[in-house]
Amino acid sequence: VDTLRYAVIGHGNMGSAHAGQIFDGNVPGAVLTAICDIDEKKLAAAKEKYGDKIEYFKTADELFKSKKCDAVVIATPHYAHTELAIDAMKEGICVLCEKPAGVRVSDVKKMNLVARVSGVKFGLMFNQRMNPVFGALKMYVDMGVLGQIKHFTWIINNWYRTQTYYNSAGWRATWKGEGGGVLLNQAPHNLDLWQWIMGMPESMRAFCHEGKYHNIAVEDDVTIYAEYANGATATFITSTGEYPGTNRLEISGSMGKAVCEDGKIKLSLLTEDERFICFNSEEAMPKEKVISVEIEPKPLEEEHLMVLKNFTNHCLFGEELVAPGEEGIKSLMISNAAYVSSWKGKTVKVPVKESTFNRLLSGKKDISRDADSSKNPAAPTSNYSERWSVRW
Ligand SMILES: NC(=O)c1ccc[n+]([C@@H]2O[C@H](COP(=O)([O-])OP(=O)(O)OC[C@H]3O[C@@H](n4cnc5c(N)ncnc54)[C@H](O)[C@@H]3O)[C@@H](O)[C@H]2O)c1
Repeated sequence: VDTLRYAVIGHGNMGSAHAGQIFDGNVPGAVLTAICDIDEKKLAAAKEKYGDKIEYFKTADELFKSKKCDAVVIATPHYAHTELAIDAMKEGICVLCEKPAGVRVSDVKKMNLVARVSGVKFGLMFNQRMNPVFGALKMYVDMGVLGQIKHFTWIINNWYRTQTYYNSAGWRATWKGEGGGVLLNQAPHNLDLWQWIMGMPESMRAFCHEGKYHNIAVEDDVTIYAEYANGATATFITSTGEYPGTNRLEISGSMGKAVCEDGKIKLSLLTEDERFICFNSEEAMPKEKVISVEIEPKPLEEEHLMVLKNFTNHCLFGEELVAPGEEGIKSLMISNAAYVSSWKGKTVKVPVKESTFNRLLSGKKDISRDADSSKNPAAPTSNYSERWSVRW
């Protein structure tokens, strides 16, 4: 085959963007042949856009049986990813799945098992791996540019969301519909990049605050402290309730540090290993030579489009996948462990037992959202901006 026929399952925010890129011919070798959505309104919106140039399906089963596609992009709410992916794979259809791959580590292991057994291609939409800033950081760590890594710290709380966002779809921010909050919806990209650059931590203690800033059941404020087998440590702070937000990633090692903010990487490198300086310098607080370099790597093109191209080339020509399906297991191992640590109030080994996480998750209760924000426990009782406003 020299053309990959795609169907998109879930024509919502993300699925409609992916469908548009393929339909518009921006992915060489790919054509859009079908869209599937269980919501009639979403299908009607797609029909208005694409007319009779493609086919429409109300259920994924009908789509799979139709033999109209060689590959699917799954862009539905998280819990549905596992069943849809496995059913597609059983029909010999390749799967590119939106993040997170699933909710539970055990689900994503099953998806990978079926992909292996059925021999279909399985990739993930971890589009931020296409950002050259993170590619460069991974290369520095892999090549030892920063020496022995001591600490990884990421403040990633520019995922601000309002109550209107959470109210926009019934599945959002619920344990039963979404399976988690900021760790599962917004931060999976960052959790994936963390493990992609640093590898997996060995243990962690996490604090996941549920409904702290919004009227939601799931967590919207998280701090994770993690430890590595070689003594390195990591802190990961994320929230959807702070504005303006910060996205600052710092990796420090024995040869210096890399600080990444606003799309720039600032490298500050020593000429001698700090561990050597520590035990050989005659001064108490030496002033060492530091070489500073600032770079601003620019992406070649839009990240999601790059993943679509990479997956298509992988299916057609065997190009190496940037985000293979197995990688979806690792970021979930981190978030599943963070939940268990927070719910049990103790440090846990990573990964946690899958049965422990699955049991605790199924016991989580959803609160019902209240349209009246005055009844919202997270809503402020007074308007701070009125009390503290300064007239410039
Ligand atoms: N990679 C990114 O940058 C990025 C950004 C936003 C969202 N996402 C991910 O994309 C996915 C979808 O998020 P969204 O914001 O587009 O949600 P959305 O609610 O806008 O769209 C989901 C669509 O899926 C449909 N759907 C639900 N169950 C279905 C099923 N069983 N079969 C067919 N259709 C079904 C719904 O009717 C809806 O139209 C999530 O996994 C989310 O985390 C990724």
